[in-house]
Amino acid sequence: MAASFVPPSPPPFADDEVAAIRAVTPGCSGGLIHLNHAGSSLPAQVVLDAQLGHLQREAVIGGYEAAAEAADRTRETHASIARLIGAEPSEIARFGSAAEAWMAAFWSIPMAAGQRIIVHDHEYGANAIAFIHAAKTRGVVIDRLPSDECGQVSVDALAERLQRADDVALVSLTHVPTNGGLVNPAAAIGRLTRAADVPFLVDACQSVGQLNVDVDEIGCDFLSATGRKYLRGPRGTGFLYARPSILDRVTPSQPDHHGAKWSSTDDYTFAAGAQRFEYWEFSHAGWLGLGAAVDVVHELGIDRIEATVTERANQLRTMLTDLGLTVYDEGLQRCGIVTTASPNVASADLKAALSRCSINASTTFAGSSRYDVERRNLPDMLRLSVHCTTTVDELEWTVAVLTSILRN
Ligand SMILES: Cc1ncc(COP(=O)(O)O)c(C=O)c1O
Repeated sequence: MAASFVPPSPPPFADDEVAAIRAVTPGCSGGLIHLNHAGSSLPAQVVLDAQLGHLQREAVIGGYEAAAEAADRTRETHASIARLIGAEPSEIARFGSAAEAWMAAFWSIPMAAGQRIIVHDHEYGANAIAFIHAAKTRGVVIDRLPSDECGQVSVDALAERLQRADDVALVSLTHVPTNGGLVNPAAAIGRLTRAADVPFLVDACQSVGQLNVDVDEIGCDFLSATGRKYLRGPRGTGFLYARPSILDRVTPSQPDHHGAKWSSTDDYTFAAGAQRFEYWEFSHAGWLGLGAAVDVVHELGIDRIEATVTERANQLRTMLTDLGLTVYDEGLQRCGIVTTASPNVASADLKAALSRCSINASTTFAGSSRYDVERRNLPDMLRLSVHCTTTVDELEWTVAVLTSILRN
């Protein structure tokens, strides 16, 4: 039998390529070390130009007139996002955040009292609040999957729980959790939900832009993401992917006259495709900025971004471990988010001390990932998140600063 062809993995960006990306990213030129890309990353100049240019046109010729002028480019953002995740433009709905997009999908899914919603310990806080709210208001049962020995969602446990699937309203998965460095095996979960014909909602807020995310490979019905994190887009932007085959099984919970057409005095019809989840009003400048940011990802190549982010995060994990710190990351596949803590100095104090040295980091707190925090008994952690703009020099300097904080 002929050996199957395995395409070579693309290499991380070389130093001169990273320098070129940094040269067109204003946040990389002022001496700041930004290790908070999973909070909000640093946009390229073209992203700023797209937003500022549109704001200028709105101010000079009027908001509706500027929207008409930019209509083609505005539509292009849907197409560019679709191309990035292996979808069609009509399968993308724009939103002002990932949580809004996720909520639009979640609350469109029919859920009856006693039905199960299957979730995992890495769910984001906003999603968990929705589960609890659905339990309180609709009587659904939250069925939490355990993690496997690597810390990722247990695929075997899901297979077992889907053996009887007629009472399952939804399987929800956070692809890259808020902390923990982990990449959950979304495609393995998708194979099971497809076989069981159960709706599958993926929170890809922290994976789109740093990993190659393909909705067909994952096999999800819905996928939500934000602009401001690894896509390096503007704050206040996000999107939802909705598979055409799910649309007849769900009902948008709060349609307006853009998501639906007021067809007669007492009736309406939903817009075609994912548009039914959108609202009429949105930040045109933000959406154009997001389109420019996604175009940058296309130009750089998501595979090379992923290779660079993965390499940089692994380098940082090694440096922190060498310093004697515990790294709390789990999973077979790890991403650009690195979490650590010191037994002697509170993470909030570490973050503040780093900030005084112009190093941006963030800290985790129980309310954003309580299931995980309680299961692993995690402390408040320092979260350092890298991107393809991050250099080894920046990591070495950060670890040198941490060393001096911890030794004083
Ligand atoms: C895993 C995950 N999902 C969803 C969100 C919400 O994103 P947004 O603030 O854009 O709504 C976040 C934000 O940190 C997140 O980490």
